[in-house]
Amino acid sequence: MSFRTIEWLDDAVIMIDQTRLPEEEIYNTYTDFQSIAEAIKGMVVRGAPAIGVAAAMGVALGARSIIADTHESFFRQLDNVCDVLGRTRPTAVNLFWGLQRMKRVAEENYSKNLDQIRDALKREAVLIEQEDQTICRNIGKWGNTVIPDGATILTHCNAGGLATAGYGTALGVIRAAHEAGKNIQVFVDETRPWLQGARLTAWELMKSQIATTLITDNMAGFFMNRGDITCCVVGADRIAANGDTANKIGTYSVAVLAKENSIPFYVAAPISTLDLSISDGSKIPIEERPFSEVTHIKGVAISPEGVKVRNPAFDVTPARYITAIITENGIVSGEYRSGLRKAAGL
Ligand code: MRU
Repeated sequence: MSFRTIEWLDDAVIMIDQTRLPEEEIYNTYTDFQSIAEAIKGMVVRGAPAIGVAAAMGVALGARSIIADTHESFFRQLDNVCDVLGRTRPTAVNLFWGLQRMKRVAEENYSKNLDQIRDALKREAVLIEQEDQTICRNIGKWGNTVIPDGATILTHCNAGGLATAGYGTALGVIRAAHEAGKNIQVFVDETRPWLQGARLTAWELMKSQIATTLITDNMAGFFMNRGDITCCVVGADRIAANGDTANKIGTYSVAVLAKENSIPFYVAAPISTLDLSISDGSKIPIEERPFSEVTHIKGVAISPEGVKVRNPAFDVTPARYITAIITENGIVSGEYRSGLRKAAGL
């Protein structure tokens, strides 16, 4: 990969600023957990697995800054660090998964001194980042098996290297097919309102020299109906026990169009995106983002001042529209409840 999404370097976190792409490739340095929380909220870093990594690194940074005489005081302050990071974005479950994992490591090291606990947290955050890269490669390996040579793949939002520690989930599948020598091309939905497709996915795919065609979201049905799309591959922010999947707003429309046109619709996601504690998608919290994302593009108003606006950032695609869910542990289809549990090793 010719860019790094997030990395721990010399007791600081370096992240590519996704609000500035594709015009500028800028790397920001973060040394405190509050600014990591702001970066997650402000979409400097976004995409479920990348948010999970950022949150874990935020905890590690937070732990370093805690001044405490006792373990009780340290753990109380660490809880506060996790609470601040946990209040940034509600939908992607990887955020909460990352925080839980960091809390568990802290507790497992309770008998150690505070510096040893801080070191254990740093090691765990770096491990989460490294594991994510391996997980994405494995999602890619499985996903490649469902992509035919010559395929035109439609994707929505950005589930690429930028949304993970590298390589990507949906784009991991696409990268793996490309690396296997398959002659594929990708149709990229622009993904209003934040334009993850136009700004990030098109940038990433073009950097990797994968044939890319950008379309606006409302063109997807046109191309599906003409027989131009072989399959759809998207990422996920939270997958309920029954397979219902929250992903970027507009994913549901793509899935319904795919079914109508008998086009396979795949979700690619790591096991850390499963939320088996909720029975179905109706329980997934949906983030509402600022109205300015709808009323403005790059600071320029595109609607009358004072218009009523809604801006849900995600929607839920019912499992019946999903052909298969591609994880690092294999491909799940059919009866999702048992299949996802098995993939999660339960
Ligand atoms: O609001 P975003 O940009 O964080 O939303 C991202 C998505 O919806 C992605 O498709 C999802 O997180 C999967 S990323 C591998």
